[in-house]
Amino acid sequence: MNHFNYTDGVLCAEDVPLPDIAAAVGTPFYCYSTATLKRHYEAFAEAMDGLETLICFSAKANGNLAVLRTLGNMGAGCDVVSGGELGRALAAGIPASKIVFSGVGKKADELRLAVESGIGQINIESEPELERLNEIALSLGKTAPVAFRVNPDVHAKTHDKITTGRKEDKFGVAWNDAPRLYATADRLDGIDVRGAAVHIGSQITDLDPFEAAFTKVASLVEDLRASGIEIQTIDLGGGLGVPYRRDNDPPPSPAAYGEVVKRTVGGLGCTIMFEPGRVIAANAGVLVSEVVYVKRGETKTFVIIDAAMNDLLRPSMYDAYHHIRPVMEPRPETDLQTYDLVGPICETGDRFAQETLLPPATEGDLVAIMSAGAYGAVMSSNYNARPLIPEVLVDGGEYAIVRKRPPVEELWALESMPEWLESSTDN
Ligand code: LLP
Repeated sequence: MNHFNYTDGVLCAEDVPLPDIAAAVGTPFYCYSTATLKRHYEAFAEAMDGLETLICFSAKANGNLAVLRTLGNMGAGCDVVSGGELGRALAAGIPASKIVFSGVGKKADELRLAVESGIGQINIESEPELERLNEIALSLGKTAPVAFRVNPDVHAKTHDKITTGRKEDKFGVAWNDAPRLYATADRLDGIDVRGAAVHIGSQITDLDPFEAAFTKVASLVEDLRASGIEIQTIDLGGGLGVPYRRDNDPPPSPAAYGEVVKRTVGGLGCTIMFEPGRVIAANAGVLVSEVVYVKRGETKTFVIIDAAMNDLLRPSMYDAYHHIRPVMEPRPETDLQTYDLVGPICETGDRFAQETLLPPATEGDLVAIMSAGAYGAVMSSNYNARPLIPEVLVDGGEYAIVRKRPPVEELWALESMPEWLESSTDN
């Protein structure tokens, strides 16, 4: 469920018509709905009813400060994967104690920042990382709260590029190595071993892989306890899929996922941590864009819009499907046309939809690319010297620009001419 609906024939974000925002900020822009973010967070939290939990929203899905603050105000913590994301979460007001730091390649300065800030948990993914963190913590006179992210060798049955829990994937410590690493960590003075963590992939639409992975983690926790290592937290990562298509069966609900969690790890007396990203944010955001031209090719008609793959990479990177909605609601009797919806970038892959049915399009029409609230703005780039686009947050009848459109000069503001080119503009 989301709060992007037609009212009087106009697509609105909650109570705000999208054309009003377009008139104020220009296109393209991202628009997020507070009510949808809250609803998704609540549904997830309610699904874990009866468990001691900490829900750490995955900042990599949507790191906008206003989005993080909205969720933080509801009690969410944050899952971060870089010093930059840690900085963002802190800047948004998320308490350090509710932040968990994941990632295979955390550098020394990032680990130092994490320990200094009093972070809740660092998920270690290799033995050298454990050693480095121990040295850093000792040098600061602190102990670092640690979980090992284990690789359960479970196939999440999702897109190959976002499958993370097979033994050939780079993530987590090898399953068979885990007991030895826990024993090593337990002896280090700079390390406080607290938990076990797992994350097997993203956009997962089948509960079986979750069940398999969580069951393995539960047995690991029991084995560790039997060997005298106390485990207080189990971090189950993120990964629950969302409905991108209306014509497919919906993915499992948070409630069904919650049943798996309760069945597998619910009886261990641990705080259960989660790192959901997409399930909270994807359907809470749309990308609004304007039609620049309608171009009739020999075999296809192209609707060229002013958003491009640099703004939303998912279709070109993963062949991802995003539903397209015209901002002005078509009349029921409208004859739909078959279009390819493309951006202006000089790559054939700069395409949001192929052979999609839309009402007859004309220059200046607005379209909404749906389900763009997760892995949208955060993955955008300046390719083709296109400035990042604004982000807008709606709450009821109000909206605010939560990221401005930067002036184009910012694109080259950090660049400089080497001395030998300084005076060479005349040839
Ligand atoms: N925790 C860890 C350690 C992760 O690596 C991820 C996502 C999450 C949590 C959040 O997963 P979620 O609940 O959002 O599925 N750019 C891709 C998705 C990459 C996911 C990376 N890791 C996409 O656009 O589909």
